[in-house]
Amino acid sequence: MIDALTIGELGAVSCAACVAVVVGFVAWYWSPGQRLVRRLRPVWDGAGISRVEVRARNGKQNTVRHRPRIRKRRKLSPTAFTFDVRPNPGRTVEDIVACSGAIRDALRVEDVTVTPRGRGRATVTAFLEDPILAAYENAEFFEEPVGKKLPIGRDDRGEVCYVNLGHTLVVGASGSGKGSLLWRYLISVFDAYGYLSGGAQFWGIDPKRAELAGVVDGAFERVAFDLEDIESLLLDLVAEMKRRQETGERQFEQREGRPLIILVVDELNALGTMGDRKWQSSVRASMQQILSQGRSAGIYVVAAAQQPQKENLGPYRAHFMNRICLRVESAQEVDLVLGSGAAALGAAAHEISPATETNGYATAGVGYVRADGEPAPVRFRAPYVDDDEIGIWAWEVQSLKEDENV
Ligand SMILES: Nc1ncnc2c1ncn2[C@@H]1O[C@H](COP(=O)(O)OP(=O)(O)OP(=O)(O)O)[C@@H](O)[C@H]1O
Ligand SMILES: [Mg+2]
Repeated sequence: MIDALTIGELGAVSCAACVAVVVGFVAWYWSPGQRLVRRLRPVWDGAGISRVEVRARNGKQNTVRHRPRIRKRRKLSPTAFTFDVRPNPGRTVEDIVACSGAIRDALRVEDVTVTPRGRGRATVTAFLEDPILAAYENAEFFEEPVGKKLPIGRDDRGEVCYVNLGHTLVVGASGSGKGSLLWRYLISVFDAYGYLSGGAQFWGIDPKRAELAGVVDGAFERVAFDLEDIESLLLDLVAEMKRRQETGERQFEQREGRPLIILVVDELNALGTMGDRKWQSSVRASMQQILSQGRSAGIYVVAAAQQPQKENLGPYRAHFMNRICLRVESAQEVDLVLGSGAAALGAAAHEISPATETNGYATAGVGYVRADGEPAPVRFRAPYVDDDEIGIWAWEVQSLKEDENV
């Protein structure tokens, strides 16, 4: 065929091939993926993640730089994109997580999250606008098919975050939004289990006489505010648990006459500072029993606390399957709530700025949840549950109880 081409035609073909190669190279060089790779090079070099190797070949020395590999860049929304990073050999996913601030600045975006995904991979999500500040209504959840999963908020991508039924601990500084999260959990439990045979019962302890004070009537089976009431409520709950245990069932089965029981404790820390020693040891013993044996009797605790320290939560902490950390003061506190190494895995609850009246509680309800099955804590925002919504919930719980008693 070449024979058939004239010299001129051959020149034209090779010229066109050269142009195609140059255009292809320019398109590749300026593609979003390659621009990302170039933008991140100084991050890896600056953090000491890159590794330089000098290779000798044919008497010449070549310098090769090993850097993390960027894969699967994809757009999530007009204001967010994500990509995967695989660390170069000798480096870990935790090294990549530690670079999140530098990645954010190198990409010139508002915020990034770096989430370990297991099998040596981290997913970076970059936000051109702060995703978490968009507050949304609790009502949005009413549309969610819950099944037996309990929706508690939305993650950075706007997807609903769930926890499973289990002892649940919410820790956060004053004003961080624990109250709304407790309510969201109760609403979710009632949606998922309230209408099943046996239903769900709610018991409450509220030493500050705040969160539960408005709904004592009807919806709750029992609510205790004072020393004496708290002690006797806990003793009665332990007695109910023992009664259930006497039937010798290995696994709790919700059914007629055997409702699921949820004990809500707003301000778990207060139980360690109220009353005299006798009261405290009685309360501690009851709480310990409920936390360690309640699950198999269908009795679950959901508790809020301002402090996660050992002296405050020490005896109870290990029993909570679901742990949620809203704004706290330090990385050590994050680890105390979510488990050691959580802050290093990117759970930066200590970097959330305080929610105050002056900033309109801009960050209230923002936190990290460690759900089972997830290798790393996930950032999410709980919705704000207002008094009207609490009222509707209480009315529904009460009406269902009345229907059953008819
Ligand atoms: N998820 C949310 N989204 C938006 N705003 C919220 C959210 N949760 C709470 N808020 C706002 O923040 C305020 C404080 O929240 P909340 O009372 O739940 O905090 P808290 O952590 O229980 O504090 P404390 O420990 O003092 O009881 C609320 O009055 C409300 O205005
Ligand atoms: Mg509160």
